[in-house]
Amino acid sequence: MSDLKQRVQITDLEFKNEKTPYSSHFQDVYFSPESGIEESRYVYLEGSGALASFASGSARITIAEIGFGAGFNFLLTMKEFLKSGGPGQLHYFSFENHPVRKSSLERLFQSHPDLKDEFQMLIREYPVLTPGIHLIRLLEGRVLLYLCLGDATELLSRIEFEADHWYWDGFAPRRNPEAFSESLFLQVKRHSKKGTKGASFTSAGWVRRTLENSGFRVTKREGFGHKRECITAVFEGEDEQLPKAPWYSRKSQKSLIPPMKTAVIGAGLGGTAIARALAERGHEVAVFDPHGIAGRASSNPVGLFNAQLSKIPNPVSRFSQLSLVCLMRELDRLGIKTRRGILRTDIEDPSPLVASEYPSDFYEVRDSGIFFPTCGMIDPRELCKARMSHPGIKFQSDSLFSVERNQDRISLTLVKQKDTLGFDHVVYCLGADAKLEGASEFQDYLHGLNPTRPIRGQILLTTPVGKSESLPHALVEEGYATPLQDGFHLIGATYQAKTVLPDQEEIDTRALISAARKWSEFQDLSIDQVKGSKVGYRLSTPDKLPMIGPLCDPHWMKQHYSKALKGAKEVSAPPLESPPGEWLLTGLGSRGITYSSLASEILAEWMTGNPVPLEQDLLEHIHSARFFVRKLRKAEVE
Ligand SMILES: Cc1cc2nc3c(=O)[nH]c(=O)nc-3n(C[C@H](O)[C@H](O)[C@H](O)COP(=O)(O)OP(=O)(O)OC[C@H]3O[C@@H](n4cnc5c(N)ncnc54)[C@H](O)[C@@H]3O)c2cc1C
Ligand SMILES: C[S@@+](CC[C@H](N)C(=O)[O-])C[C@H]1O[C@@H](n2cnc3c(N)ncnc32)[C@H](O)[C@@H]1O
Repeated sequence: MSDLKQRVQITDLEFKNEKTPYSSHFQDVYFSPESGIEESRYVYLEGSGALASFASGSARITIAEIGFGAGFNFLLTMKEFLKSGGPGQLHYFSFENHPVRKSSLERLFQSHPDLKDEFQMLIREYPVLTPGIHLIRLLEGRVLLYLCLGDATELLSRIEFEADHWYWDGFAPRRNPEAFSESLFLQVKRHSKKGTKGASFTSAGWVRRTLENSGFRVTKREGFGHKRECITAVFEGEDEQLPKAPWYSRKSQKSLIPPMKTAVIGAGLGGTAIARALAERGHEVAVFDPHGIAGRASSNPVGLFNAQLSKIPNPVSRFSQLSLVCLMRELDRLGIKTRRGILRTDIEDPSPLVASEYPSDFYEVRDSGIFFPTCGMIDPRELCKARMSHPGIKFQSDSLFSVERNQDRISLTLVKQKDTLGFDHVVYCLGADAKLEGASEFQDYLHGLNPTRPIRGQILLTTPVGKSESLPHALVEEGYATPLQDGFHLIGATYQAKTVLPDQEEIDTRALISAARKWSEFQDLSIDQVKGSKVGYRLSTPDKLPMIGPLCDPHWMKQHYSKALKGAKEVSAPPLESPPGEWLLTGLGSRGITYSSLASEILAEWMTGNPVPLEQDLLEHIHSARFFVRKLRKAEVE
């Protein structure tokens, strides 16, 4: 599937009157000027059956909407859902290719006091508007908003969920036919099941016919206010089995349901991120690491979070972009101290930024390079510690020795702890430092069957030299230099995959000094300013993407998939099975700060059986089984 897709265009709302946003592009209002709330409630919440579902107290209600717009329907739906007092969770998928700028939402919310609290919640969590799926968890996860930015038809074809209710709320169909097209409704059909109910303000004949052709029975209702008619529709077609690669299917993986317990092995950026994500979802988590919290690769005093550029979007740039946005929201939520501002001195041409669609205020083109005002630096140790500070997480300084599986329980033997400990789920976040003397099968899997490699990296701590003292932001080319922090600059980082020589530390120190001297601020840097150096190992994958998902069983995969993956036509392959409750979050490479945030959100939703906030094609690029699937495809497995 192509990485090139229709880009999003950020919109500043225009206003018909102070309460009513208007689009001159589509020549239409976002909602009714007279009584937006009442109309929205009548046409969508009532018309789609959502209100009736709320009253029934279902465990999970999934609503999907074409046209997030100003979020009015969403906010009202959330309000009504909460009012109903049911115990369930609301999943709200909303598609939008002209997302509204945050400042416009702020203005709108002033004139809608009825939705004040809900608007404030949304504005607090509103992401940087980059294409793809942004998961916004509100009210401790009672409401999950999957804000899907891009063309609805395109994104619907790349995402997996099943809607109970639809709101078809594009602008007037004659001005915006794509929001009601046959290809869009084919996707709507794919995400519907028998009984799924939808609603729209429009009753245009061709929209009704398109819906009917997609398997919906359409009924006209009286319109709201002066409008004559609107519609409701019930899906009566067949549930469609998705023609998906079974080796990436999430169907057969054991779900994490309270009061199940999870162990996380490793307390670096990866382990602390998933521990936090699970604890926030109400699960009990025990984290084990003999080196304490952030004791190994994640122990640098400073690390960068930065935009990853590519002229044409590719899986790495797409995943990095979404990860960065996710991390920025996490840093805000946890109150992590950040130092903002990164100047990329190796690029003058902003076209990769335009292609990747970071909003235009995300970067500034300067004579000296491209400046990113909101990217920056944190202390990764502080992030790890803040993640662990949650009552649902217990930390134990101990080392996993071996793993045994008894039916549905996983027994862990630790080095210090005498008794074996039983868990329902285990997440392995061992980074490059995996040491499991007693678990050779797992060790083999991680290091033998997957092409991951530990990559040595060195950083220097230096005192200032001349102009460097007043450096206001980080400088990045191949390496990086940070402004003074506690009296030191951090100069990083080498990337050494080859054999490590006995005098490697000295070689790397010289290389780092010489690289930093390119920048005028550091042109006089010498060994005299070096006050320390530090070496760490990141676990890297050949495609520079992390490995997230179930710990797969290569024997099972070989038995069930080798023929199908070699191209045998008649073979029907079952969905991926893996040792129940065992998961991986690793391969964070040189981007552990940024990647760990989104990786953990994805894995936490996956483990808890929820839709995963990532497009399916990208999910296949980060899937823990991908390298073995590729080997089987190339018939490289004996
Ligand atoms: C020099 C250098 C500079 C970097 N700069 C940046 C940067 O600027 N920005 C950025 O985003 N990333 C950066 N990175 C990358 C980032 O640090 C890594 O991606 C990240 O730390 C990996 O996190 P992790 O949790 O996977 O691994 P780790 O932090 O290594 O955590 C794995 C943990 O598993 C534990 N473990 C191993 N075996 C066992 C066992 N048997 N039982 C229990 N626990 C066990 C280890 O003790 C370890 O603490 C840098 C890395 C290096 C080396
Ligand atoms: C009437 S407004 C939606 C109002 C919104 N439901 C609310 O409550 O504020 C229609 C929205 O649909 C969006 N839209 C139109 N065509 C689209 C498409 N093909 N994909 C995604 N969004 C689309 C428009 O950008 C616009 O924001």
